Amino acid sequence: MDETPWWRDAVVYEIYVRSFADASGDGTGDLAGIRGRLPYLADLGVDAIWLTPFYPSPMADGGYDVADYRDVDPVFGSLADFDDLVADAHAHGLRLMVDIVPNHSSSAHPWFQKALAAPRGSQERDRYVFRDGRAPHGPGENGPGGTGGEPNNWLSTFGGPAWTRVPDGQWYLHLFAPEQPDFNWRNPEVREEFLDILRFWLDRGVDGFRIDVAMGLIKAEGLPDTGPGFRSASPMWSRPEVHDIYREWRRVLDAYPGTRVAIGEVWTDSAEDLARYVRPDELHQSFNFAWLEAPWSATAFRKVIDDTLRAVAAPTWVLSNHDVVRHRTRYGEGSLDPSAGLARARAALLSMLALPGSAYLYQGEELGLPEVIDLPPQARQDPVFKRSNGELPGRDGCRVPLPWSGTAPPYGFGDGGSWLPQPDDWAELTVERQAADTSSTLSFYRRALALRRDLRGTLPDAIEWVPAPGDALFFRRGPLTCAINCGEDPVRLPPHERVLLSSGPLAGADLPADTAAWLTDR
Ligand code: GLC
Repeated sequence: MDETPWWRDAVVYEIYVRSFADASGDGTGDLAGIRGRLPYLADLGVDAIWLTPFYPSPMADGGYDVADYRDVDPVFGSLADFDDLVADAHAHGLRLMVDIVPNHSSSAHPWFQKALAAPRGSQERDRYVFRDGRAPHGPGENGPGGTGGEPNNWLSTFGGPAWTRVPDGQWYLHLFAPEQPDFNWRNPEVREEFLDILRFWLDRGVDGFRIDVAMGLIKAEGLPDTGPGFRSASPMWSRPEVHDIYREWRRVLDAYPGTRVAIGEVWTDSAEDLARYVRPDELHQSFNFAWLEAPWSATAFRKVIDDTLRAVAAPTWVLSNHDVVRHRTRYGEGSLDPSAGLARARAALLSMLALPGSAYLYQGEELGLPEVIDLPPQARQDPVFKRSNGELPGRDGCRVPLPWSGTAPPYGFGDGGSWLPQPDDWAELTVERQAADTSSTLSFYRRALALRRDLRGTLPDAIEWVPAPGDALFFRRGPLTCAINCGEDPVRLPPHERVLLSSGPLAGADLPADTAAWLTDR
């Protein structure tokens, strides 16, 4: 019997709920839409789905501003829809994970509204991070966009100061948008509240949680000044006390029947810091964003793989998510060949799926969707775009609703258009079109995921590097050899009996540029 817990080598598919499938016809994806597409996900061959936030929210940050942690926003459906979705997902053999947003709530959350109405020093204010300002020292003293007087020099991840002033003169902290006030995780009431929220969703049958901004909950005592960035040594991120929170959470998860898991969204600059989140009594996994941040380069990929496998016992791999430029587009940047981006995206996927650990896919990558770079400014909704006055494009380009069928927008997404406009040339990228084409990216994903399932449980956890020429990487896991060519010239394939799958056509015994292959000795 295979004793490996399900999550260790699971393929998890991220559903950005607003953009997956719209059953109600209002232009925004919803839970009933997902339910109708479960057969598609089961056929694709993923093990689990992760839903981005669907809770009641003013949508200042696409739902990552939660006003009620125990309900469903009417735009996405109801709790009854959620229960139906869990039951159906399980019936399709799919596990279901939800996104939990503990670093901040929406400013519309009743607790924050009470905090605003209460005086400084009150219990209500202590659930968030309210501080008195400090005297302004001069122009620009508090960094770009600072108006002077903020309690410290921290900047919001979305641009501008991380502090907003309230009418009585105090300031509150928001590491993201002003509509997302940070909780005070040193307050026991906040801790209790989230344990209860976890239990609420566990009781409804979820298999796990994706923890938003998992490295941000605890801020350094005294809130000292810092420079910007996600450095593991910063007073905002990865403070040692954050681990106590996850130890408490782990005890809650372990008290439930079955194996319920938690994966942390941890942006950091060190694999060692990442590894601390996944000690045996803490989270099961943390996202490993290092590959997603690496350029198309064998040297860079090898470093990511080595650093990860050295430091992290339960590795994860991810190429795209709802916060970054789609990897097809990233890998195409700087290449003169217009087909390079997709070829590289397919090659990277095959390499990632050959590695020990679990893989996270982002909806639409199985269709080879590119980033939509020419969205009209008036359509863009990301606070990053708005807060930078349009200087930064923001993340809407990877959030365009999926094309399912037909030849014109909304391509079967729903009957009522789509909240972000879809490109006119996506007819050839629809699920319907690609399902009928054995050379499509969708067919390639299905084959790769099916093969990975066949190999599951038969491969060792360790990989072995095989010397490779040029800008190529070859590694073995037992009988499986994976070869990827990041260079410009073809390279000779390593010795093998059979080719199991390749991400593009092979040239006899050669592996062409921008291509990966799975080979076997048997
Ligand atoms: C995470 C989410 C992102 C969101 C931010 C604030 O990084 O993935 O979409 O904007 O947290 O909640």
